[in-house]
Amino acid sequence: MTGRKFEPISRKLPGLIHGCDYNPEQWLALPEVLREDPPLMRRALCNAVTVGIFAWSLLEPEEGRFDFGWLDRVMDDLWSAGIAVILATPSAGRPAWLAQAYPEVLRVDAERRRDLQGLRARHCYTSPVYRQKVQAINSRLAERYGKHPALILWHLSNEYGGECHCPLCQEAFRLWLRRRYGDSLERLNQAWWTAFWSARYSDWSQIESPAPRGQRLLNGLILDWKRFVTEQTADFMRAELAPLRELSPEVPVTTNLMGAYRGLDYRRLAAELDVASWDSYPCWHAPTGEDGRPGEEWRTAADTAFWHSLVRGLKAGRPFLLMESTPSFSNWHPVHKLKRPGLHLLSSLLAVAHGSDSVQYFQWRKSRGGYEKFHGAVVDHGGGGDSRVFREVAEVGETLKRLDEVAGSGVPAETALLFDWENWWALEEASGLGLEGERGYWQTCLAHHRPFWCLGLPVDVIGPTEELKGYRLVIAPMLYLLRPGVAESLERFVGGGGTLVSTYWSGIADETDLCFLGGFPGPLRRVLGIHCEELDSLYPQESNRVVPRPRNELGLAGEYRARNFCDLVRLESARALAEYGEDFYRGRPALTVNDFGRGRAYYLASWNEEPFLQDFYRALSERLGLRRALEAPLPRGVSAQLRADGENEYLFLLNFTQEVQAVELGLAPLHDLLSGQPASGRVVLPPYGLAVLRRSGG
Ligand code: GLA
Ligand code: ZN
Repeated sequence: MTGRKFEPISRKLPGLIHGCDYNPEQWLALPEVLREDPPLMRRALCNAVTVGIFAWSLLEPEEGRFDFGWLDRVMDDLWSAGIAVILATPSAGRPAWLAQAYPEVLRVDAERRRDLQGLRARHCYTSPVYRQKVQAINSRLAERYGKHPALILWHLSNEYGGECHCPLCQEAFRLWLRRRYGDSLERLNQAWWTAFWSARYSDWSQIESPAPRGQRLLNGLILDWKRFVTEQTADFMRAELAPLRELSPEVPVTTNLMGAYRGLDYRRLAAELDVASWDSYPCWHAPTGEDGRPGEEWRTAADTAFWHSLVRGLKAGRPFLLMESTPSFSNWHPVHKLKRPGLHLLSSLLAVAHGSDSVQYFQWRKSRGGYEKFHGAVVDHGGGGDSRVFREVAEVGETLKRLDEVAGSGVPAETALLFDWENWWALEEASGLGLEGERGYWQTCLAHHRPFWCLGLPVDVIGPTEELKGYRLVIAPMLYLLRPGVAESLERFVGGGGTLVSTYWSGIADETDLCFLGGFPGPLRRVLGIHCEELDSLYPQESNRVVPRPRNELGLAGEYRARNFCDLVRLESARALAEYGEDFYRGRPALTVNDFGRGRAYYLASWNEEPFLQDFYRALSERLGLRRALEAPLPRGVSAQLRADGENEYLFLLNFTQEVQAVELGLAPLHDLLSGQPASGRVVLPPYGLAVLRRSGG
C-alpha cells in the first residue's frame, strides 16, 4: 500500500546491496585465497558480504577459549576494500564440544529420540545452557565488532526452524498453555474438544506435544503446539538478540527466513526484526508448462514474486533483503539446472521489482569439501573471475548501481491478499478434505495471485488481522480459520466501500479449530450474504462447469471448468453471477456477489481453473479501476511491476519468455535508468530482457 520512501536499512550503505555469504573460515589454511577475495569481490561489484554464519567452532574452538584474530583481519580487509559486512551470530553451527559437554542442547524429535551431534541448527530452543552459550558468544561479537566501520547489519543465526520435543520443551509448552488458558484446564479441555475419543486431561502434567505414537489427531493440541513452537523460537531469538541490542543498539537486525516455510508464523518473528530478509531458491527452468515442458518461466516468476511480496509484508511494506539466492544452481534441487544466460539478472531484478533492496547469494566461493561443495557460487573451484557466472554476477552489480535511487521505495499496492500461517496449519491438519497439491492452501493463494502478476497489478500479501484501510480489494482464499476480530474487520472493510473476494472453505472454524455453529461461512455469512450448506469434493479426473449468467455485471461469458471443490451455496442477500452446469447441483450458484454497506463481497464457490481466475480478476480490476503499473497490454510472460517513493515511480518490465517482446509505453516521457536515456513509445525487450523506467511526479 506504500508508495513512500523508507529509511535506508543502514545509513552507511543507503543504496542497493549486492553481496553474498562469505565463509573465510573455510580457507584459513590458504591465505592466498583470502587475499584474492576482497579485490575479486570488488570486480564482481559486491558492496556487502555476510560473514560468520557457521563460524562458531572456529571462533570458540574450546569452551571459553575464543579466537577472533582471523575475523579481525577479515573485517579489516573487507573494510579496506570498501566492502561492508553483515555479521552473523553463529548459533546455527553448534560446535561439537558444546553438545558433548551439554547434551541437553541437542534436539529431541517427535518420536522422543535425542539427536546425536552432527547436523547444523537442530538445537533445542528452550535449553538454558544453549541460550547462555549463544549469549556469551554474541556478547563478544557485539563488543568486538559492534562499532566496526564495516558493520551494517546483524544476521541472526540461520533459517530458524524445526521443533524440539525434549523434557524442557514439554515443560515450557505446559507453562505456555497455562498462561494461554488462564490456568484453567477446563477451558483447555473445551477449546480442544477433548470429550471426543475420551481425550480429556485431568492434570496439566498429562499434556504432551503431538507424537506419531501418541496424540497426533487432536486438532486443538496440534494448533497450539505449532503456536508454541513459533513463540519458543521467537523467545530464543529474543535471547540471541538481547546482547546485540544492549551493546550495539544502533545496528539493525535481521534473520534469513525461508519464505514458503510452514513451521513458523513468520509474522511473530518479524516483529522482533528491523528488516525482513529471505532465502529464495526457485527451480528456474523447471517444466512448469501446461504440457509438462519448460517454457512457462513466468509461472515460476509469478510464484516467486508472491513470496517476495509476503516477505515485504512482514514489515509493513518496508523494503526487504534477498539474503540468499543462487548465481547458478542449487545442489539440493532435484535437477541441477544452470540458470540460462540472462536469467540471473532477470530473476535478481524480479526481487528488486517487488521491494527488495538487495541481491545476495549463497555463496561467494564454492566450498572445497562438504555437503555444499557443488552448490552454485560466484567463484567456482577454478578460482578467479573468468567465468560466465562471475560475469553475470558482475552485470547484476553494474545494474544495481544504476538503480541505486530505487532503494527505500515502497510498492504501491491497492490489492491485499490475506495469507495466514495458523490457517495453513489448521487446513493441513483437518482430515476429510484430501488437501494436496493444487487443492492446498498456499497453492491456492499462488493461483489467485498469478492473474495480478500477469496484469501488472501490485499486490501486498498480509496477515488477516492487519489494517485493511487503504486497500481497495482484499482477497482471502480458503480462510478456513477465523481469528477473533477478522470477520469484523472484513465487514468494516466492505461496509466502508472495499471489495472482498472469498472462496469455498472459508469461515469454518475458530482459532482452536472448533467449527462455527449455526451455518457456514460462520461469521462471514453476513458480509457474503450466503449460506454454505454442503461441500462436494471431486476426484482428480472429475470436473464440473461454471456457467456465467447472461448479462452478469462482470461481463463474464463462455464457460469454465471447476475441479476439486464445489460448494453448495444458498443465497441469502447475495445474487448469483454464475452457476454450476452439471451434476445434481446444476443451476445452483457458483459465483455470488453481495452488496454490503458501500462495498461488495464476492464468493467463489468452486475451485476453478486458471482461465476463470484470469478473466474474473481482469473484469473485477477493470470494474474497480485498479491502477496497473502500465496501462498497456502485456504479452504473456511479461510482467510490469512498480515501486514508488512518493515522488518518483519506478516501472519494471520483466520478460520471462525466450522471445523478443514489445511493450507500448505510451507518450508520457520516461527515463530509462539502465541506458540513462529518455524513453517513450515502445520498448523492445530481448529474451529474458528487462527495463527499468522512472516516471516522475508519481
Ligand atoms: C540455505 C542456507 C545456506 C545454504 C543454502 C543452499 O538457504 O541458509 O546456508 O545451505 O540454503 O541453498
Ligand atoms: Zn527442547
